[in-house]
Amino acid sequence: MAVRNVIRMGDARLRETSLPVPENDLGSRELKKLLRDMYDTMEDYDGAGLAAPQIGELRRIFVVGLDHGENRGYEKKAYINPEIEILNSPSEGSWEGCLSVPGMRGYVERSRKIRIKYYNENGDFEDTIVEGYEAVVLQHEFDHLNGILYVDRIKDTRLFGFNEELTQQDAI
Ligand code: NI
Repeated sequence: MAVRNVIRMGDARLRETSLPVPENDLGSRELKKLLRDMYDTMEDYDGAGLAAPQIGELRRIFVVGLDHGENRGYEKKAYINPEIEILNSPSEGSWEGCLSVPGMRGYVERSRKIRIKYYNENGDFEDTIVEGYEAVVLQHEFDHLNGILYVDRIKDTRLFGFNEELTQQDAI
C-alpha cells in the first residue's frame, strides 16, 4: 500500500498537459504499480476518481472508483490514454468536488452521455458508451489530463463554495 500525496490547486503541475503512456508501457509491471498507488491514494482520500497529474505524474491516466448499487457493487477501473467523444448535449448540472480543491464544491454542467476509448490496466483497448453520473466523473478526470480543473467550468461562481457553508443550498 502506497498512498501518495495529492497536490492542490495552485501547483503548476495541475495546469500542464499530460503525456500519453508509450505503447510499450501498456500493461507493464511498472504501470500496474503506479495504478495500485493511484487506487490506494483515491481510496485513502475517499475520492470517486484520481488523475495521475494529481500525484505529480504527468501521464494520461486516471482511475475511478464508483458504487454502482446492488447489481454491480463498487467497481474501480483505470483509464489509460483515454479519448472522449461527447454524445449528448445539452448538459445537465451537478455539484462537483476535487481532491486537489479540498473542502469545496461547485456546480458544473456536463454532458450525460459520452463515448470513451482507452486502454485498461492489462493493456487491452476498450471502446464503450457511458451515461449518467459516471459520464460526469470520467469527464472531470479527463479534464485533469489537459490541465483543466472543474472550477474552470463553473458558469456562476455564486454556485461555488466551501462544503460546510453550502449544506443549506445543495438541493439543486
Ligand atoms: Ni479532480
